[in-house]
Amino acid sequence: MPIKFNKEKRVIHLYNKEISYLIHITPDNGLIHLYFGSYLKDYDLYSMAYNTSNYYSHLVNGVEEKALIENFNSDTSSMEFPCFGTGDYRPCAIKIKNHFGDETTDFRYVSHKVFKGKEKLEGLPCLYGEKDDFTTLQIKMIDSVTNVEAILEYCLATNYPVITRSVKIINKSKNDITIKKLYSACLDFKTDEYEFYRLTGRYAKERNIKHNKVMQGVQSISSLEGKSSHNASPFAALTSIGATEDYGDVYSVNFVYSGNFEIKVEVNQCLQTRLLVGINPETFEYVLEENQSFQSPEVVIQYTNKGLGEMSRIYHKLFNNHLIKGVWKNKKRPLLLNSWEGCYMNFDTEKIINFIKEASELGVEMVVLDDGWFGKRDTDESSLGDWFVNKDKIDLHKVINELHKRNMKFGLWFEPEMICPKSKLYEEHPDYAIASKNRNATLMRHQMILNMARQDVCDNIFDQLSKMLDEYQIDYIKWDHNRAITEAYCEKLGYKHMGEFYHRFILGTYSVFERLNEKYPHVLIESCCAGGGRYDAGILYYSPQVWTSDETDPIERLSIQEGTSFAYPCSSMGAHVSANPRTSYETKGHIAMQGTFGYELNPTLLTIKDKEVMKKQVEEYHKYYDLTHHGDLYRLIKNADNCNKVAWMFVSSDKKEALFTYVVPLRGYSELCYIKLKGLDPDKYYYCEQLNKTYLGKFLMEFGLNLTFKWILTNQSIQLYFKEKN
Ligand code: GLA
Repeated sequence: MPIKFNKEKRVIHLYNKEISYLIHITPDNGLIHLYFGSYLKDYDLYSMAYNTSNYYSHLVNGVEEKALIENFNSDTSSMEFPCFGTGDYRPCAIKIKNHFGDETTDFRYVSHKVFKGKEKLEGLPCLYGEKDDFTTLQIKMIDSVTNVEAILEYCLATNYPVITRSVKIINKSKNDITIKKLYSACLDFKTDEYEFYRLTGRYAKERNIKHNKVMQGVQSISSLEGKSSHNASPFAALTSIGATEDYGDVYSVNFVYSGNFEIKVEVNQCLQTRLLVGINPETFEYVLEENQSFQSPEVVIQYTNKGLGEMSRIYHKLFNNHLIKGVWKNKKRPLLLNSWEGCYMNFDTEKIINFIKEASELGVEMVVLDDGWFGKRDTDESSLGDWFVNKDKIDLHKVINELHKRNMKFGLWFEPEMICPKSKLYEEHPDYAIASKNRNATLMRHQMILNMARQDVCDNIFDQLSKMLDEYQIDYIKWDHNRAITEAYCEKLGYKHMGEFYHRFILGTYSVFERLNEKYPHVLIESCCAGGGRYDAGILYYSPQVWTSDETDPIERLSIQEGTSFAYPCSSMGAHVSANPRTSYETKGHIAMQGTFGYELNPTLLTIKDKEVMKKQVEEYHKYYDLTHHGDLYRLIKNADNCNKVAWMFVSSDKKEALFTYVVPLRGYSELCYIKLKGLDPDKYYYCEQLNKTYLGKFLMEFGLNLTFKWILTNQSIQLYFKEKN
């Protein structure tokens, strides 16, 4: 098995064709992180473990072991699971307060086991696979004073340069303990020669790529909103200085969690770098009674020496095959038209039926009715929580019949975790809403959040959704989440367990997703959060599509989709052509085809010319579907590089087909333009339909495509399809 234990050196080596990960068990049972990177057939332990204390000299000559152990300096060693309070002054991975009030935590190695496959994390999203897809290592550690156990879990992927990590804490003591801090993973690096990449943004400007050289001190990205947030995504990478799309070391982490997180980078006095990933300790404290346990969420750790482009391609494949699950995993998704920007909440049955008629002529396969169909909702001031049809406003049976007549599917919007003070649900259960005792509740968009940390609240929402799904043939759910948590409080948790609230909230949300996935496996869920405010690897486990942003201007979308593609598959990026006037429908289509592709407009207002463009677009969508949803993405020229050119391409895995897209964000800009393509077979000839020309793959990659065409001035974008010529 690809996890080997060298008893003499006391080294655990996790490896596959591409990577090695080495952990050393010290004579006094500490865990030292030796290495993570390219596969190593052999290694010199002394070089790897050496630090200023000369601790490891005993491994060279075998003498003075005790004296040297006393000299051990945990503050300058690379630690595998750094604990609080025993001399490592960098941010720690774990801090537990015991019943004496003592926060010193000191976990030591007890044993380890290795087995084939990967177990499911109870109640949490995680990667999954067949027995041969992963090998698991579980290291058992114990804090001898409290008798608390920590199980460090590492799942090594067989075919990806990837290891997942998580930690389970089991209280084997007789007394309560409080977990004050628990990161799912720590990665120590020997130097500060790294750049810190992350995805940051705000509402309608999500996931812009930012990076800088790490410096002494702490830098972090995090969320406190109860969701992963628009502000930052639970993803980060440390790269070698100057890494590009094609070159350089990239150590990246992708946290499989949708709640409050923190990714922290610290460079210490010796200019060593530490990376921590986990639940944000600022809103987390978890009490374990005797024999209770706590499971941390999972973090996916990846290493590649082929740059940021390869990092993304690895995540895309990995998540498409081992995170996204269920019927829709690799199944072709219906081309949809969403009603939101087309009519907002202002609709009736006739209007929606007209939408359906027009949409079906364009070739749309599913119509999604967005916000406004339930309770008494005509504005955003009321009714969240009342998930029954407003029959005075819309006849859903009629709408669905109309769709079925045309062989089309139906999708419906919900915002399951929310409640409006003006709602039947609130009248009946005011205690379901999150609110502090004796404090005013902050409203956002006239709404409050349901206390998903409570089982009865989750049950109520599941039952309401279930009733709708049983009564109406609903093929798709848009699951929205439009505000952040404030006044976090849950009376049922009480003083002792209040610190668990935020985590229990997201577990509750996950449980409703899971129950829906199980009971209605054919229902496709597209998650949403005021656009893309909860776009993370956790949510992808339940919903294979995520609405990327409320910003539907395609030029603004360039940076949003580019950043999203950094860490998440393009096949998950909800991207619609809207009526936004800045660009032509051709350009809107080219950019939306980087993601799921769909429409979000009033189809009854389209001109004959627009409709002609769209019909062609729909044909292209089908023709290119496999490429855009399963192909390898190459970001050729990034929007983040600000040169008024953006280009990307998808290449099929057999390299027989490619789809190239080029956009000039500021219209009217023209210059000589040569773009080198990537990922093609150098020896294959490719015929380009639109240019009616055949090129050698190597020519396209070495000389490039000559795009010095006048017509770019008017078109703003081009999409070129290449197919192998036999
Ligand atoms: C959020 C979503 C939009 C739309 C509205 C409806 O803002 O991001 O796509 O569904 O809610 O209220």
